[in-house]
Amino acid sequence: MVDPLSRDPSGLPEMLDHQPSTHFAELPASPTEDPEWILVEEGFTLAREHELESLFAIGNGYAGSRASLTEGSPLSAPATFVAGVFDSKPGSVPELAPMTDWTRLSAIIEGQPLRLDRGHNLEHRRILDMRQGIFWREWRHQDEAGRITRLQVLRLASLADRHLLVQCVTITPENYSGRMSVDATLTGPVIQVTGNGTTVAMAVSHRVMNRVERRTPSAEQVEGRQSFELKLGETYRFDRMVALHTSRDTVEPRETARRHVERAIEDVTGVIGEHRDAWLARWEASDLRIEGDPAAQRALRFAIYHLLSAANPQDDRVSIGARGLSGTTYKGHVFWDTDIFMLPFFILTYPEAAHALVMYRYHTLAAARAKAARLGYRGALYAWESADRGEEVTPPSVIAPSNEVVRILTGEQEQHIGADVAFGVWNYWQATGDDRFLIEAGAEILFETARFWASRAEREEDGRYHIRRVIGPDEYHETVDDNAYTNGMAQWNLEVAREIADLIVERWPEQWQGLSRRLGIEPEEPRRWQNVARDFYTGFDEQTGLFEQFRGYFGLEEIDLASFVPRTAPMDVLLGRERIQRSKIIKQPDVVMLVCLLWERMPPEVRKANFEYYEPRCGHGSSLSPAIHALVAARLGDTALAERYFRQAAEIDLADNMGNAAGGIHAGALGGLWQAAALGFGGLYLCGERPEHRANLPLNWRSLSMRFQWRARWHELTVPEGTESRNAEDAP
Ligand code: BGC
Repeated sequence: MVDPLSRDPSGLPEMLDHQPSTHFAELPASPTEDPEWILVEEGFTLAREHELESLFAIGNGYAGSRASLTEGSPLSAPATFVAGVFDSKPGSVPELAPMTDWTRLSAIIEGQPLRLDRGHNLEHRRILDMRQGIFWREWRHQDEAGRITRLQVLRLASLADRHLLVQCVTITPENYSGRMSVDATLTGPVIQVTGNGTTVAMAVSHRVMNRVERRTPSAEQVEGRQSFELKLGETYRFDRMVALHTSRDTVEPRETARRHVERAIEDVTGVIGEHRDAWLARWEASDLRIEGDPAAQRALRFAIYHLLSAANPQDDRVSIGARGLSGTTYKGHVFWDTDIFMLPFFILTYPEAAHALVMYRYHTLAAARAKAARLGYRGALYAWESADRGEEVTPPSVIAPSNEVVRILTGEQEQHIGADVAFGVWNYWQATGDDRFLIEAGAEILFETARFWASRAEREEDGRYHIRRVIGPDEYHETVDDNAYTNGMAQWNLEVAREIADLIVERWPEQWQGLSRRLGIEPEEPRRWQNVARDFYTGFDEQTGLFEQFRGYFGLEEIDLASFVPRTAPMDVLLGRERIQRSKIIKQPDVVMLVCLLWERMPPEVRKANFEYYEPRCGHGSSLSPAIHALVAARLGDTALAERYFRQAAEIDLADNMGNAAGGIHAGALGGLWQAAALGFGGLYLCGERPEHRANLPLNWRSLSMRFQWRARWHELTVPEGTESRNAEDAP
């Protein structure tokens, strides 16, 4: 057995570069063989089980399932989540509700349970087939009596019909005939009513070989116990199909699910084929191809696979949580990760999904208004952590490892989220030219967030507007004044709101009438936004070209991060909360983030000076950090440094280099990785009237090519050759 923990020198887990010797012939599909499209895990190491459950998770934006072993292991933690379905227990914040495990199937052969921790595992391999959106498993097991059984699994969440989940399992007795009993009993109810009042119905159908057994949803568990006489060398196939419907999408979830699964089970092969075609079509639009660096290629496909698995253009009342639907960390909550880190990928390659994400912010505007009002301000302030309704769901405190109760201040103080949402909305509109969205939803978000800043910022004696008591992206420093990122983005938000107001007045005067009346915008209000923006304090020092991250930052203690290398824990753990607050060490890009987002507004020497100052002081305590450093370093032309950061970003999930992939894949970091490739190395700029590119490819990348949609036309970027455009109608 290959040691699954062996790593190649790049630090990425060893992945097969040869074609896996798979024999999935009895299943209705077969795995992709090209190593750049698959992730292969050989063997079995119990301690890594949770991490693999995350990495190999399947999803379609409606539902997601972790890649747990069907028969379970002492550490298996199977979980299926449905987007927007939260549970809230009294006294705690809402969290994604785990659904009943539909994947369970255990076999007992002649009284011996077929388990990885019993007998000998002659072969065990799991494959994440990113191209087809399928999780595969192959296992040859020998029990103590010498009986060899082969088991194969295919599992998917249909991308063609998002309510369907499919699992096919084949069992082959290779050197014996004997009695097998299979238990596929569901361990929980098929009808669940969650704490937020959502009813979820799971209708299950089994098919054993050619016999179909239907289980209509009822409040009871689904029984799935059966016994068979196995004949030497014959393959037995167990198909399970689940239709999931909730009261969020239908008034009759139970009936709808029942009818749906009854229809679908009749043609398992067809369902799998349509799913596969849907993935292939998605990849046509969303793939990013690298020649010359197979590890980077696979890492990018892994990023794209998980981003696509988390998106659903058909539901604009849900968004993507920090860990997608692949794990429980952050409870399924939505952060700025979505608007700033993931959204650009969707805007450019899957605008329909991007539209749903920005509309989620529109549908949660009422909660954002309520939050601003609660804090005593006008306009709207989005929740730092948001769930189904957009209310602030950041937990108020956590218990630290020291058993101390630590208050979490981000929910109140990480107010830059308001401008981040506005930035995502503006970016979406800019890139798509979706004027209807702007008029019907986007402008309202831009105005209400700007209004918040205009009432939040206070003019002080120096005649400048200041924002005190906030947390910037760098969460190591709390309750700071004049955070450069917050102020810079607030200023941007105010200016853009004014520009959009002017644009609507000019181009759509009738709509302006309606909108301004509804929102109570006085004729002089947009001008006031502009004036506040003009007089904003930014912390910029003309002498050095540096932004001070917040008031007093430059006077803090210098700590040489290099002296901590190699390090196994985040800097806040090594130094303690208090010491880190007194130091210049930052958790993640803050001024550099501002430079990255407002690139076009910054003179080249300012971009460079700030990156050079802050980069050595960044501890990368957030998974969002390395990719942004890669992007900015690439744009500044430091390709070697960019490549180092790109690799670090790629390893967050693939090599679990932060030690927390067990809680789900890092969707924001994966979006960042894509941006580092497309906007950093590919050098795509989308701020002007037409897309441009200034590529900075790493030495061994022979080429980078991708498609992207800009103002309803598809473009082709091929570096080193150039860009080409064609009409959206010819799109994939
Ligand atoms: C980061 C935030 C991020 C959150 C969720 C935190 O550790 O500091 O920027 O939004 O994780 O990914």
